[in-house]
Amino acid sequence: MKFEDFWYVVAQSEQLKPNKVLSRTVLGEWLAVFRDENGEAVALRDRCMHRNSRLSSGQVCQGQVHCPYHGWVYDNNGTVVAVPAEGDDFKQLQARRVKHYETCEQDGYVYVRLTDQPSEEFEPFPMPHYQEPGWATVRVINRFRNNVTNCAENFIDIPHTASVHPGVFRTPRRQKLEMTVERQKGAVRAEYRNETTNLGWYAKFLNPKGGKIRHTDYFFMPNVTSVEYDMGPYRQLWITSQSVPETEDSTLVYTDVTYNYGIWNQLARPFIHWTAQHIIGQDVAALDLQQEVIKKYGQKFANTPADTIHTFVESIRDRIAAGEDPRLLPDQSVQVTFWV
Ligand code: FES
Ligand SMILES: [Fe+2]
Repeated sequence: MKFEDFWYVVAQSEQLKPNKVLSRTVLGEWLAVFRDENGEAVALRDRCMHRNSRLSSGQVCQGQVHCPYHGWVYDNNGTVVAVPAEGDDFKQLQARRVKHYETCEQDGYVYVRLTDQPSEEFEPFPMPHYQEPGWATVRVINRFRNNVTNCAENFIDIPHTASVHPGVFRTPRRQKLEMTVERQKGAVRAEYRNETTNLGWYAKFLNPKGGKIRHTDYFFMPNVTSVEYDMGPYRQLWITSQSVPETEDSTLVYTDVTYNYGIWNQLARPFIHWTAQHIIGQDVAALDLQQEVIKKYGQKFANTPADTIHTFVESIRDRIAAGEDPRLLPDQSVQVTFWV
């Protein structure tokens, strides 16, 4: 198994308009992404085979991309279908073709897979409750100057919330929390107990009666995290992030906040959008600092029991990096007590 076997988000479906070409980077590979005449997403290596300009700087006409330099035209297979300088002498040749990648669309996202020979056929991650009746979704996109592992860990890290998001999300008050962390089949699941209303001003809306909160965090290989808050009927919230590896220290994160607030669904939208962006902005800054230090001194962590969730995530991602299947790691379940 390798990271290239999986599907990665390259755009929201609505971002990829007809006659538009987007420039994307996934696992270091440069992509030009556009729609063909039938509206199907196309991903080509972002390199014109003529004299190596970037196709993503060109234009799309009738589902074909025109190189911005000398106007070579590529179809949805990456085959050159016109060369202006050859005029009527032009002939389509098998060898005149740029690399082309598989695409698919699901839950309002366009996905690309880099390998055409995956170790097995994975599906894109199904976004929880997306477009289900009664549920609404707010989507935000953010670039982190850090790697996927550190991003994913941040999104399911409770101990940072009091210091990075004071007031908004959680106030420090030395609350004792207990969690069960499990690693199973390439996934990590952390279930928190004793969590009450320590959610800052967000709680006033989310949990006005101060009832019991069920809070579960998930990681799914290779790059998805999900945070689930259940505070009773019409107070359910999922925050799901797909961390797309651009390069070693750049990750583009697509986050869905999907919630079921009953009659508040539409009214809550701007508030949720603002809050999500505000919180993620604080995490971008925190992960910037972390990456700066890692670049200077290397990555070496000193873990506490509260970091068990991270060591599990790392064990899974390390396996894939080594070309192995993390689902073969032994199942583990650990009880952890910590304070926040
Ligand atoms: S470099 Fe693309 S057409 Fe010449
Ligand atoms: Fe955070």
